[in-house]
Amino acid sequence: MKEQPIGFLDSGLGGLSVVKEVKRLLPQENIEYFADNQRQPYGEKNQSELIKYTLQIIYFLLKKNIKACVIACNTATAASLIPAKEHFSIPIIGVIQPAVEDAVKRTSNKRIGIIATEFTTKNQAYPQEIKRIAPEIEVFSNFCPEFVPLVETGKFTAPETYQVAREYLKPLKKARIDTLILGCTHYSFLKKVISEIIGQEVILIDPAVNTTLELKKILSQKGILKERGKGEENYYTTGLPEKVERTAKIILNDNKKWRQAKVGSGLNI
Ligand code: DGL
Repeated sequence: MKEQPIGFLDSGLGGLSVVKEVKRLLPQENIEYFADNQRQPYGEKNQSELIKYTLQIIYFLLKKNIKACVIACNTATAASLIPAKEHFSIPIIGVIQPAVEDAVKRTSNKRIGIIATEFTTKNQAYPQEIKRIAPEIEVFSNFCPEFVPLVETGKFTAPETYQVAREYLKPLKKARIDTLILGCTHYSFLKKVISEIIGQEVILIDPAVNTTLELKKILSQKGILKERGKGEENYYTTGLPEKVERTAKIILNDNKKWRQAKVGSGLNI
């Protein structure tokens, strides 16, 4: 079972932030990555759509024989982590709880900011998780819909990225937070811009880091951590592979081949 791959899913390239961390920390593991570009953005979908998409993708990944699945998307985690865990017997790992545990440990002034998609923000998954662990912490949120298309097109430090970031971060700057959770996996690739605008003294929490540690812990506990050899990677998108490849190449610093996965055929439940 150790040799079986780990599945990762996101609406697009955001989940590669988690994959990068996994490749750094667990380079022996085999990876199957699924980007649902055709149905992006997830942040504007409703809960039942998101549950359906997540379950469909996990079924697809199970056909690739995965031993565990990381929902490398905050929106899909907020909407469907619980139903997915109930539905499948393999370990399913989300990104929200690991990010919250990290943020709660690191804040000094007990004022945490969250930027995320519209769904994740309105669903309140982050504030609820923070209050559960540390009720004294004050939480400030904002959603940033323009960020996802900017990341997908590789505009990590473009002037328009700075421009929208200034608007989105304004209320959080006013709130005097000392810790900011990047509550959408895409935002990991905008750290430079976000840090410059919010101020370098504000700690940025990237869920990718703690999620990978959580994944490692679960695989070790189950005795299915792959400790030898070099990991292989396969990448799928429901969008256009040639379009996705361009930005993925910059992110992964490697020219990976992306295959097209069709919604409605192999993805039918
Ligand atoms: N990357 C996803 C997340 O972490 C969602 C992006 C989207 O709206 O499609 O929330």
